[in-house]
Amino acid sequence: MNSPKHVAIIMDGNGRWGITNKKSRNLGHKEGLKTVERIIKSTIKNNIKYLTLYAFSTENWKRPYFEIKFLLNLLESFLNEKIDELNENGIKLKIIGDIKKFPNKIQFRLKSAQRKTDKNKKLLLILALNYGSKSEIINAIKSIKTKKIIINESTVDRFLYTKGIPNPDILIRTGNTNRLSNFLLWQLSYSEIFFVKKMWPDFNERDYKNIIEKFKKIKRNFGKI
Ligand code: FPP
Repeated sequence: MNSPKHVAIIMDGNGRWGITNKKSRNLGHKEGLKTVERIIKSTIKNNIKYLTLYAFSTENWKRPYFEIKFLLNLLESFLNEKIDELNENGIKLKIIGDIKKFPNKIQFRLKSAQRKTDKNKKLLLILALNYGSKSEIINAIKSIKTKKIIINESTVDRFLYTKGIPNPDILIRTGNTNRLSNFLLWQLSYSEIFFVKKMWPDFNERDYKNIIEKFKKIKRNFGKI
């Protein structure tokens, strides 16, 4: 049986959950952060070494200012309040995406959180922030061209944000929507994809465990028979 090493998640449905349960999209994001914390713990319990969470896409800047500001505040308080706990639990934080667009104080917090947790080995928690897969691939190809090296699968791998990280075994998308939304398009080529009807705040450890158990029973051929 295969055990997953790397799980990637598109945490969709906060807004709809918030409207239905609290009459506010932002309160859905707040509730979504609680699920993030539960799923990080559960990832460690299940002995998974890499967890990638799509927390803010390049397209999310098109949302109303009020919502963007709320998401950035949530990220900032997560960094302020939780980084010591992550560190004590052996979690290393890595950011993928172009963080230069974020306010300086958030950029600073992100860099210092990555430095602080750099030696940890229990789990690599990868947060995709202002991340877009197409621009990641274009930038990789541009870098390869300026360095005049051969373009092949392994050179592209080396110029992506995810250099050195195994590709996700599992992609989970909550929120009852079946698409990839410009997330890890290169890295997900052979991942097993699980679309979940529940909204992200309702996704729980049991749902997660069921997906891991289903994955373990899948025979993965990677194109062979
Ligand atoms: C998608 O739901 C979710 C997001 C754009 C943000 C995800 C953020 C969190 C889970 C909380 C913050 C996380 C960290 C790590 C600090 P949506 O708003 O698109 O939902 P909808 O499809 O119902 O509108």
